[in-house]
Amino acid sequence: MKNISLDTQHLSSFVDSSELNSIQQEVLEAKRTLLGGTGKGSDFLGWVPFPEEVSPSMVENIKADVARLAAKARVFVVIGIGGSYLGARAVIEALQGELGGLHAGGDFPKVVYAGHTLSEDYYYELMNLLDKEDYAVAVISKSGTTTEPAVAFRIVKAHLEKKYGRAEAAERIVAITDEHRGALHDIAQEEGYRMYVIPDNVGGRFSVLTPVGLLPIAMAGFDIDRLLSGACDMRKLCVESDSLEDNPALMYAALRNVLYRKGRKVEMLVNFEPRLRYFSEWWKQLYGESEGKEGKGILPHSLCFTTDLHSMGQYVQEGERLMFETVMSVKNPQFSVAIPWDERNLDGINYLQQKSLTEINHNAELGTIMAHCDGGVPVVRIELPGIAEYVLGQLIYFFEFACGVSGYVLGVNPFDQPGVEAYKKNMFRLLGKPGYNK
Ligand code: PA5
Repeated sequence: MKNISLDTQHLSSFVDSSELNSIQQEVLEAKRTLLGGTGKGSDFLGWVPFPEEVSPSMVENIKADVARLAAKARVFVVIGIGGSYLGARAVIEALQGELGGLHAGGDFPKVVYAGHTLSEDYYYELMNLLDKEDYAVAVISKSGTTTEPAVAFRIVKAHLEKKYGRAEAAERIVAITDEHRGALHDIAQEEGYRMYVIPDNVGGRFSVLTPVGLLPIAMAGFDIDRLLSGACDMRKLCVESDSLEDNPALMYAALRNVLYRKGRKVEMLVNFEPRLRYFSEWWKQLYGESEGKEGKGILPHSLCFTTDLHSMGQYVQEGERLMFETVMSVKNPQFSVAIPWDERNLDGINYLQQKSLTEINHNAELGTIMAHCDGGVPVVRIELPGIAEYVLGQLIYFFEFACGVSGYVLGVNPFDQPGVEAYKKNMFRLLGKPGYNK
């Protein structure tokens, strides 16, 4: 499988080479800071070497647990929120398709999610499903104390124990959490659950290539070796090359900072493949939590085209010029679907009949890029050869590395998230949590 690559040809009227030359030193300095561990948040750089240093025995244990649980579960509930949820969902949905129908193989359970919401109706629906299906659970929380997954786990654990008895329920639960502390760690020890460790030095939004993402992705029937191999190959490129032309992560970090300094405060990550919808959700957390602080940072936004061209297209074309667009462009589809010939041609689309849907989609993409450039929106294209584990592994590492570099160029600590606490404190006070005054 070929590599992902960055296409900057549609930026020529927005960013000139002198601007890139002048930011290049800052980008290289940021890269040195990241790799040397000399910047802010350097306690959280465990993700940088992780794909290469991943323990083969941990991967084998994951596969063994998947085989054991897949034999007895038709549904697999993944409980987690934010960085303990979005990466797995991004990869699983990208690979299985929006309707789940692109996943050709095997006897793997259907993955459903919990702990990412406090909606009562959602849990009613989930419990109805779990009443009918054999299931197993992964509960994922680095701190082990986050309210949303704790509430979800309390509900699901009680249901599971009632359905199978406490001993069998314990066999069906895997906990992924801190090695030494936290409520989830303590529950897992007490109940004898199978446990995986989230390394101390890997923050939630950078954890998809640890057991946090690997276990659910393997459970859904996808090849985690290929995912890791894509990440390793991209890591090599990101680490070894100091050339903006050859190193897509450095070029992306440079471009978004040049554009930001020129007033482009919003980045829209765009796809023409709806199966990448959750990839954008993962990316939004990665960049939003890493850069949105100290009154600074590009606002990450996402759109699915052509769907959203019929809702947000007007704004992008003619609204305030505060954005740039990053298009995830997929070259080859996995499957083909023919457009039938119709003698009567009442809908007038016989002219498309000789073309593949992908050719039509690619022309929609090119037409959109041209229109948006003409309308004053800079466009960067990330070309993906297809959607497969190896490519997604590359894409994940590319975005992570670029995020670390870009955050340092912006001048923030890309690895903390102090602002996430504010809503929690209010919520705890309102709910009367002990220790939080009304
Ligand atoms: O990136 C982050 O740190 C957050 O999004 C966390 O992942 C999220 O809040 C969940 O935290 P935890 O895994 O501790 O339950």
